Amino acid sequence: MDRIPLAIVGAGGMGGRHLRALGALYESGMANVELMAVCDLREDNAKHLADSAQQVLGSRPQVFTSMEQMKTQCPDIQAVDITTDSGSHHLVAEMAFDLGYHVLCEKPLSLTIRGCNRVIDAWKRSGKVLSVGEQERRDPICRLNKAVLDAGAIGAPYAFLLGSASGGSDIVIWPWRHYKNIGGIFVDAGVHVVDQMMYYLGEIEEVFAVAKVWESKRYRGERIGVGDFYEHWYDEVPDEIDADAEDMVVSTLKFANGAIGQWTSFYAAHGEPLRYGMIYGSKGSMQPAKQRRGEPLTVTIDGVGAVTGDEVLTLVPDFHLDELSARLFGADRLGSYTTPFEDADRFLVALEYYELGQCIAGGTEPEVNAYVGRKDLAVCNAALESSVLGRPVTVAEIENEETAEYEASINTHWKI
Ligand SMILES: NC(=O)c1ccc[n+]([C@@H]2O[C@H](COP(=O)([O-])OP(=O)(O)OC[C@H]3O[C@@H](n4cnc5c(N)ncnc54)[C@H](O)[C@@H]3O)[C@@H](O)[C@H]2O)c1
Repeated sequence: MDRIPLAIVGAGGMGGRHLRALGALYESGMANVELMAVCDLREDNAKHLADSAQQVLGSRPQVFTSMEQMKTQCPDIQAVDITTDSGSHHLVAEMAFDLGYHVLCEKPLSLTIRGCNRVIDAWKRSGKVLSVGEQERRDPICRLNKAVLDAGAIGAPYAFLLGSASGGSDIVIWPWRHYKNIGGIFVDAGVHVVDQMMYYLGEIEEVFAVAKVWESKRYRGERIGVGDFYEHWYDEVPDEIDADAEDMVVSTLKFANGAIGQWTSFYAAHGEPLRYGMIYGSKGSMQPAKQRRGEPLTVTIDGVGAVTGDEVLTLVPDFHLDELSARLFGADRLGSYTTPFEDADRFLVALEYYELGQCIAGGTEPEVNAYVGRKDLAVCNAALESSVLGRPVTVAEIENEETAEYEASINTHWKI
């Protein structure tokens, strides 16, 4: 199979996770992209990722500190994978399209609708592929979750109840996740949650929310980030920061299909952490899949009782995973898996890379395209806007920029 030459732009923690995903794709025997270069404004970060690539992939990509320089010196590269911090996505993606690259852009597509639209305009001008990095729905148990709902096993959806509480006053990974204009934690993690909710139940139309910054001072915790991806930079995290991004948002959601959602996102919770989730329908309930964990689903159906583990597969006899998922996770029908968390993490991003290669080669549309990415952001920003205005806000109002009080300072900051 011909491999499409690609570069990673943004060589921080997520750049490292994407590199390990490329390793998984190479090992699968189905690699359709190949890492040729890494690019970061910080040359030390780019060199660090290139050194890791030597170990993970067996070859060292070229190192650049600007995409223009990369375009001149490495003209064969066709696609870039943008893993820069969230606030810069609109700038980096727009430049990438103008340089003629296909783009896989980490979520969120941008921090504001205007930023998303700048990327969308550049993408349309270019005629290239734009895929938004949203890997969680690609988990085999999430795929099964979706199939069970679509098969009507719990009937017509009534409610999606979801929440998490943790964090205290620790800095979550890097300070930028506590700065509204660079990419606050609610949006950073929230787009994943919204993507899952809308993947399962369809579009969210309206949000009523209250948001707050509880911890305006945050402190470096004992460790930072997921796994060991950020340890290299631990000493760079300041002891203390002033935070201005919301760390608690409680939302009521109206889905287009009539279902009602309740979503609590609480990143300043001291004491005991909490995590809950349940989808209720007219005939039963199911806990939403916990991605990367491989835990079996439990579907509780009126008159039947609890169906769990591999028995869930009997509810969806036609359910099958795609070829690469089946190869990575070991079977094309899975009720659970024992793949370690770190491997599941890289497998899900490997699926994103593979889809990008397929879309470039075949001219097809990625599953999480620009409009899905923009909608995921719009629901989060509708919650934040609702809190500012003190009234329910429709997602259409946000997408059409009929109201943008929350986004205004971000647009000003980035001169969008
Ligand atoms: N999908 C997921 O599960 C997931 C998880 C973590 C992070 N992310 C996303 O990945 C992105 C990166 O997050 P991170 O935690 O790795 O951040 P990070 O701060 O660790 O790394 C960002 C890197 O981008 C570089 N950079 C910034 N602006 C640049 C530019 N204009 N050109 C080139 N390089 C530039 C920085 O120097 C840094 O090395 C964020 O958008 C984040 O939301 C996604």
